Amino acid sequence: MSEKATIEIDGKKHEFPLIKGTENEVAIDIKTLRSATNGIVTIDPGFKNTGSCESAITFLDGEKGILRYRGYSIEELAEKADFLEVVFLLIFGDLPNSEELEKFHSDIKAQSVVDEDIRKIVDAFPKSAHPMGVIASLTSALTAFNPSSVNVNSDEDMYKAIVKILGKFPVLVAWTFRKKNGLRLEYGDKSVGYVENILKMMFQLPNEEYQFNPIVVNALDKLLILHADHEQNCSTSTVRIAGSSHVGLFASLSTGISALWGPLHGGANQAVLEMLEAIKEDGGDSKKYMAKAKDKEDPFRLMGFGHRVYKNFDPRAKIIKKAADEILNDLGVEDPILNIAKALEQEALNDPYFVDRKLYPNVDFYSGIIYRAMGIPTDMFTVMFALGRLPGWIAQWKEMRLNNEPIGRPRQIYVGETLRPFKAINKR
Ligand code: ACO
Repeated sequence: MSEKATIEIDGKKHEFPLIKGTENEVAIDIKTLRSATNGIVTIDPGFKNTGSCESAITFLDGEKGILRYRGYSIEELAEKADFLEVVFLLIFGDLPNSEELEKFHSDIKAQSVVDEDIRKIVDAFPKSAHPMGVIASLTSALTAFNPSSVNVNSDEDMYKAIVKILGKFPVLVAWTFRKKNGLRLEYGDKSVGYVENILKMMFQLPNEEYQFNPIVVNALDKLLILHADHEQNCSTSTVRIAGSSHVGLFASLSTGISALWGPLHGGANQAVLEMLEAIKEDGGDSKKYMAKAKDKEDPFRLMGFGHRVYKNFDPRAKIIKKAADEILNDLGVEDPILNIAKALEQEALNDPYFVDRKLYPNVDFYSGIIYRAMGIPTDMFTVMFALGRLPGWIAQWKEMRLNNEPIGRPRQIYVGETLRPFKAINKR
């Protein structure tokens, strides 16, 4: 392949270098486009063709259905690693040895207490508040209790900020859940694993010892791993772009949480379950909803289907579908919604509308069914996603800051009114 791309404008040729990644992805480097062409920019709504950065964290090939964190396949990580190892891998670039992992966990545990005044903030939310709104606000509120900004040039400062948020975020998640359910706000248990602690903080009752169910612990571990990073998706790009203004880590993360909430992104797991429930209530006629999804006059979309980058299958969906079957079976849960989901998937895989558009189930088509079997209410699903994505956001924020990336500030093509004289109010 040539080393340069040529753009010809008004008979004048401009050359731009091609850059190649370690997996042979190629990009035209247009950093000098504006200056070379006297102000011409590119336009690409939704960034469908635009790389925003060079990154060494996650590789995915949407055509081949490949997803790797730091070079390790998602299939292998989901089977052999635990979530905390994956957190370390994403943030620091390599799998930890046992001493590193133990130290990392112990540093996180040392930070897993939040300022008692945060209880007052939690208490001030109505029980009806959506947990994603609450967790985004609480994450933002952490900045008020930890006002010193991170010196990104100090490894120690950076490390402290990272273990702080990894320690405190699960507490905020648990408190969000407990407040909604009228339960006393509890702290965790330092004697158990990171994922066990999340479950215990969420579900322990004041009058009995929490009993761990290894099936539930393993299921949550796997789900968190599958959600841990996904290169430059909407919420991650939001975190990177917010952080590029040099606002701190916690403030950047709260913007990512808000971006994740939307039903086209992380909010899809809640939307899928609501859709499956609605189909069930409506008599379970999946064909009717397939027709709605295909009808261009109808805004309905088959939630949990389609992906911006996966145009073959989402490798996470494959793992999750198998896990859903196993987990429901192991827990002895019969959920008619799983059958509706399978019927919809089968129909979509054989329907030209979905086949032609390369619309396959994504990670969230089956995740809600597992969360439900674990006893997690529907409106907490996206919060669980945020718990999983936290290390990805942190790793991407850290990479962006250490690469000293410039502030994110896209251009536009203005299509509004040209200059016009001001009209007095009585003349309008
Ligand atoms: N149901 C029905 N039709 C769909 C769906 C769907 N779920 N998804 C895409 N299409 C159709 C579009 O209408 C469009 O059709 P057209 O070419 O006739 O106009 C075509 O497929 C391409 O769709 P786009 O919206 O252009 O694809 P884009 O890459 O912009 O969007 C997205 C991807 C947002 C994920 C989309 O597929 C969608 O809305 N899916 C449902 C929501 C969802 O599951 N989101 C979770 C994504 S995974 C994650 O964030 C964790």
